[in-house]
Amino acid sequence: MKPDPEFDLPADEIRRLGRVAVDLVADHVGGIAAGPVFGKIGPRAPWFDEPLPETGCDPDALLARVREQVMPFPFGNSHPRFFAFINATADPVGILADLLASATNPNCWGGDHAAIHVERQALSWISQLLGYPADAEGVLTSGGSMANFTALGAARRAVCPDVRDGGLPRDPRPVVYVSEQVHHCVDKSADLLGFGRRFVRRIATDAGFRMRVDALEQAIAADRAAGLRPAIVVGSAGTVNTGAIDPLDTIADVAAREGMWFHADGAYGALAAIAIPGAFAGLTRADSIAADPHKWLYVPYEAGATLVRRKGGLTDAFARPAEYLDQDPESPLLGPVLFSERGPELSRRFRALKVWLGIQRHGRAGYARAIGADLARARRLAELVKERPDALELAVEPTLSIVCFRYAPRGKGLDEARLDRLNRRIANRWIADGSFFLAPTVLRGRSYLRAAIVNFRTSEQDLVALRDATLQAGAELEKTV
Ligand SMILES: Cc1ncc(COP(=O)(O)O)c(C=O)c1O
Repeated sequence: MKPDPEFDLPADEIRRLGRVAVDLVADHVGGIAAGPVFGKIGPRAPWFDEPLPETGCDPDALLARVREQVMPFPFGNSHPRFFAFINATADPVGILADLLASATNPNCWGGDHAAIHVERQALSWISQLLGYPADAEGVLTSGGSMANFTALGAARRAVCPDVRDGGLPRDPRPVVYVSEQVHHCVDKSADLLGFGRRFVRRIATDAGFRMRVDALEQAIAADRAAGLRPAIVVGSAGTVNTGAIDPLDTIADVAAREGMWFHADGAYGALAAIAIPGAFAGLTRADSIAADPHKWLYVPYEAGATLVRRKGGLTDAFARPAEYLDQDPESPLLGPVLFSERGPELSRRFRALKVWLGIQRHGRAGYARAIGADLARARRLAELVKERPDALELAVEPTLSIVCFRYAPRGKGLDEARLDRLNRRIANRWIADGSFFLAPTVLRGRSYLRAAIVNFRTSEQDLVALRDATLQAGAELEKTV
């Protein structure tokens, strides 16, 4: 038996193909700004309906296909005029890191190989960037949803020690508190972890979309009086809709007084503490934090992080022996961390390399500068909106890098329902024509255009163009609603 040459390419062939692939990467990154923001496939969908290949083909043909059918049709989040969701622009260093990570292709469940040490150090650096203990117990996840799920898994085990054997107690029943602006992945996690949606309290927010602590305290008191057990409170360190930061310090006081676990969802916002630590007072008092390198460390998808202050907090919730993994204490395989015991995943890719390289490439200072610039872009866009009170309305002053605004011309008699339709049509027109990409959101029942800026490529000119395009599209579309 011999190695199969179709799979086992010789090193020189990898080098040759790799150069072609890296040229594709460079052309793509260099040409992003000149193309449409959103690469809609539309009528080309039949490209992806071919029958299953029965035999293989030449790798050059594959790269040519990627060049023609994939690279020109991106989601758009590395384009300077992409402002949708919270999808960051990818740092080119991270793009290369992912290639190198796939080349070594380790399984990062544990062991004394380099990737495990890289992940351990990357997690410690993320903790330190947040001002959290350098030795907090952590794990990299696929993103913020899994980071919150994993942290809430640790919280569940801490507040209900028998949960892994006996399930959640019925009496007293544990209750989770979140703000009405919490990311829906926290609801999903509470649901999957068995808390039950009827036992998740959505606490009202103030005019700045921050959790109202008086309402939190009232809800806790009412639940105690009803014989329930207030168990977990989730504070948002940057909400997805507006970037609001809940009063984390006061929430930490309430959690301490009530004997509750305090989790901070900082998937989007927490890493902005590198640039503006004062805005996140109380974050470091959280029992657990979710923070996403694939947002404000600009690493390519995917990388989220869960951090838990107490050692053993994650392993108590997730460790599960397996005959074929249980290690001989004398085995040279043994390494510093079993990441498989810190979350639900066993096989895990080498997510840490791009995070580890990014932090070394830019350091704390580089990220403080880049995040600070995103915050400044948001403030500038808000100013541009406020310069035109005759036609534009800002929903709320930006706290981080999200600006919610709408086209609402004075004196035109457009009621709220027509304004909602109009603003959605504006966003749809841009997605279709490729000029911008914004995802609208709903605040207090009204639709707003929402610009989220996690994008080191966006210029002042892009922001002015966005404001002017809103005025133009609004004026053109107002008769259609
Ligand atoms: C505050 C917040 N939490 C959680 C998430 C979920 O993160 P992911 O999309 O990486 O799963 C997001 C995503 O935008 C978010 O903004």
